[in-house]
Amino acid sequence: MSPLIIAIDGPAASGKSTVSRKLAERLGYVHVESGAVYRALTWQLIRDGLAGAAAETIVRHLSKVTLHFFMEHGRLRFTVNAADPEPAIRSLAVQEFVSAVAAIPEARAWVNGHLRGLRRFGNLVMEGRDIGTVVFPQATFKFYLDAEPQERARRRQREQQFSSQDLTASAEVERALLRRDESDQSRPTAPLALAPGAYRIETTHLSVEDVIERILAIISSGRNVCV
Ligand code: CDP
Repeated sequence: MSPLIIAIDGPAASGKSTVSRKLAERLGYVHVESGAVYRALTWQLIRDGLAGAAAETIVRHLSKVTLHFFMEHGRLRFTVNAADPEPAIRSLAVQEFVSAVAAIPEARAWVNGHLRGLRRFGNLVMEGRDIGTVVFPQATFKFYLDAEPQERARRRQREQQFSSQDLTASAEVERALLRRDESDQSRPTAPLALAPGAYRIETTHLSVEDVIERILAIISSGRNVCV
């Protein structure tokens, strides 16, 4: 039987990661953060001195980047050229280049090949920007999480443990998020968009638990296409 796939897409800091991780735990599925793969590729490019290089150079370099996925204590992990990419892939340097790398069609095809291969690990909750539209258009359930930009900036800031009193940092976080959203939504290949049949959940005023409850209610109702 083919594995069940739950696709969760949405813009930066919309709560996808926390919701997806907890949902996967509740359902006993494998959680896949597709953004981590784009970040890891970007990190390797930076390490190889190719940050900001021309797309053709990056495309030629893809064959020199090897990902290895494995399960450890019930969690999916991976290495990039045999190195653990965490926590380096959360750095500002990676954040700055990742959307440019993710806009290269061949880089996306390379990542998608790896993501589709993860079905060998079983049922998946996969989060990203194009999981329901491109990677797994046949996903069993598709969700699109959104939140107002200010709330997303606040969430990202909390994650990064900035002081909420630091207004400069807050404004900068919001600007960086909006820049990345703009780039992710306007790229010609696989832009961030609501997939056909996806349930959109506006999370600005919802807790993580509320969002998970809504998703579980839809899953248990068995209505796997939004009409
Ligand atoms: O955690 P956050 O939402 O900020 O970002 P992420 O999920 O780690 O993704 C980082 C970047 O990778 C995004 O800004 C996109 O440019 C790219 N990405 C993508 O293009 N397609 C995906 N399926 C996942 C991420």
